[in-house]
Amino acid sequence: MKIEGAAALITGGASGLGLAVAEMIADAGGLVGILDINEPAAREVAERLGGIALSCDVTNEHAMDAAIAELQDRSSMAFRIVMNCAGIGPAKRIVGRDGPMPLDDFAKVININLIGSFNAMRAGSAAIAQTPPLEEGERGVIISTASVAAFDGQIGQAAYSASKGGIAALTLPAARELSRFGIRVLTIAPGIMDTPMAAGLPEKVIDGLAKLAPFPNRLGTPQEFAALAQHMIENRLMNGEVVRLDGAIRLP
Ligand SMILES: NC(=O)c1ccc[n+]([C@@H]2O[C@H](COP(=O)([O-])OP(=O)(O)OC[C@H]3O[C@@H](n4cnc5c(N)ncnc54)[C@H](O)[C@@H]3O)[C@@H](O)[C@H]2O)c1
Repeated sequence: MKIEGAAALITGGASGLGLAVAEMIADAGGLVGILDINEPAAREVAERLGGIALSCDVTNEHAMDAAIAELQDRSSMAFRIVMNCAGIGPAKRIVGRDGPMPLDDFAKVININLIGSFNAMRAGSAAIAQTPPLEEGERGVIISTASVAAFDGQIGQAAYSASKGGIAALTLPAARELSRFGIRVLTIAPGIMDTPMAAGLPEKVIDGLAKLAPFPNRLGTPQEFAALAQHMIENRLMNGEVVRLDGAIRLP
C-alpha cells in the first residue's frame, strides 16, 4: 500500500519509536494523527509535521473512538494505517523486598500495552473497513509494537513480557479475522532501542544491554524501526507476522 495519500493513527506518536514513524509517514506524503497522553508534545509534533494532535489515553474506549472519528473528520485522506507505539516499561519483581507485586501494578502494564493496543486495533479496523478498497481489495494495515521481551523476558519483566506476549499472540488471529476487510496485521518486536524510554534506565544497565547484540553491537535507532514499519505498510504480502528487529539480541 502506498503511504502517500493515506491518513495514519500513531499511538505514542509524540516520542521515541512512534515519533520516528510519524516523521517517516509525513515525509512519504501521508497525514499523521499523533495520539498521545502527553498533549503538549503531541501538539508540537503534529504542528511540525502538518498532522493532527489527538489527546487520548489508549486505555479509554470512548476517547479512542472519538479520536479516530476526529482524525477521519479532519483528514482529507482516507484513514488506512494504525501504528501502535504507546507503551510503558516499568520493571518490578513478582515477589520483591516489600512482598508480592500489587495486582494494580501488573494490571496497569497490561492495560496500557496490551489492551491499549487492542483498543486502537478494534476502533481503527472498524473505521478502515469503511474505506474504499485499493488494489487487490487492500484497505489498510495495523502494526503493533511488542518487544523481544515477549520471547526472552528478564527478571522484573513479568508484567511487561506478558503484555508484549499478548500483542504477539494477537497478531495472527487478528490478521485472519480482518483479512475479509483487506486489512493486514503485523507486529514489530524491537530489541533495545535508543529512545526516551530506554534513556530512563540507568546508564550501566543500558550499556550492558546494548553490548548483548551480536551485530550491530549497539542500540537500535528509531529510524531503523520506522524503516521496517514503512516496509510493512508498503509490502502487501507481509501479514500475520511478528518480526524481531534486534541485531540478533537474545536477552539472558
Ligand atoms: N525503547 C526500547 O528499547 C523498546 C524496546 C522494545 C519495545 N519498545 C516498545 O516500543 C513502544 C514505544 O516505546 P518508546 O521507546 O518509543 O517509548 P517512549 O516513552 O519514548 O514513547 C512512548 C509514548 O507513549 C505515550 N504513552 C504512554 N502511555 C500512554 C497512554 N496510556 N495513552 C497514550 N499514550 C501513552 C507516551 O506519552 C510516549 O509519548 C512501547 O510500546 C515500548 O514498550 C521499546
